Amino acid sequence: MKVSIIGGGGLVGSCAGFALQAGGIVREIALVDVNQDLCEGQALDLLHGSSLISDQVITAGGTEQVKDSDVIVITAGLRRKPDESRLDLINRNVELFRTILADIKNHSMRKDAIVFVVSNPVDVLTYLAVKDLSLPPQQVIGLGTVLDTTRFRGLLAQRLNVPPTQVAALLLGEHGDSMVPIWSAAQVAGLPMDKWPGVNASVLAEVEKKTRGSGAEVIRKKGGAGFAVGVSIADVIHSIALDQRRVLPVSSLQDGAYGIRDVCLSVPTVIGRAGVMQHVEIDLWPKEKMGLQNSAKVLRDTIDKVLG
Ligand code: 2OP
Repeated sequence: MKVSIIGGGGLVGSCAGFALQAGGIVREIALVDVNQDLCEGQALDLLHGSSLISDQVITAGGTEQVKDSDVIVITAGLRRKPDESRLDLINRNVELFRTILADIKNHSMRKDAIVFVVSNPVDVLTYLAVKDLSLPPQQVIGLGTVLDTTRFRGLLAQRLNVPPTQVAALLLGEHGDSMVPIWSAAQVAGLPMDKWPGVNASVLAEVEKKTRGSGAEVIRKKGGAGFAVGVSIADVIHSIALDQRRVLPVSSLQDGAYGIRDVCLSVPTVIGRAGVMQHVEIDLWPKEKMGLQNSAKVLRDTIDKVLG
């Protein structure tokens, strides 16, 4: 499988490239960036380590590389400032994103290509990609709250002093201020999280708050997310590459789950080589379902305002 990463010269794109290299599952990693030197430098750095990791084709070049790609990841875009919300960023990113979509379309993608949006605000830009590209909506996804869920699990594990891989916790809705923690499904080692020793409402609230602020915190401290967003991107791509059909909180065009339509946000979604195979409308607490519907309203209002 070939994966192109538009914005592959940048922090998010290059970390995604490294995560895919470390995963050793995809066959080809093609970095694309307007900054050609930076892009070639990232590809060279990956190539230098390849003899210890996996046998893959790693290239750097222009958008022409997307034409035979199975997955096209779009990480390019302006990064938000620490005090700027992801939705505030939209005005600065829509025009840039539209040119990227036009450029991709000019290079005749594979009919079964999956377009994977990471650029922010990811839910609005995923919706824009569904509208602007001539692909079935099932083949356009956004990272959505996958990164938030990854962070949430790691931060809960640290706070509860348990292995991160044994924490099951989920955030759904907008990858942004209205994201919704799904406490009704939270577990440690298959056991209810709220029964775990040392867990109480304030501990959980503290971790939820830290998770919500993680994006801005990592921008303040190191300029932006890299490692966690890279492995989150790779995890979704591996479900596509191996047709694993895992249930992941990616962002995609909603067609009725939880009464939500015509907006992109994260619900539990079966992801395989064909992209979105099913939205799994699991039973949620009433306040969780209301939170999801609030996310949908926030995003719909933004789409109406910005995309017209
Ligand atoms: C974040 O939360 C980049 O939006 C991404 O760090």
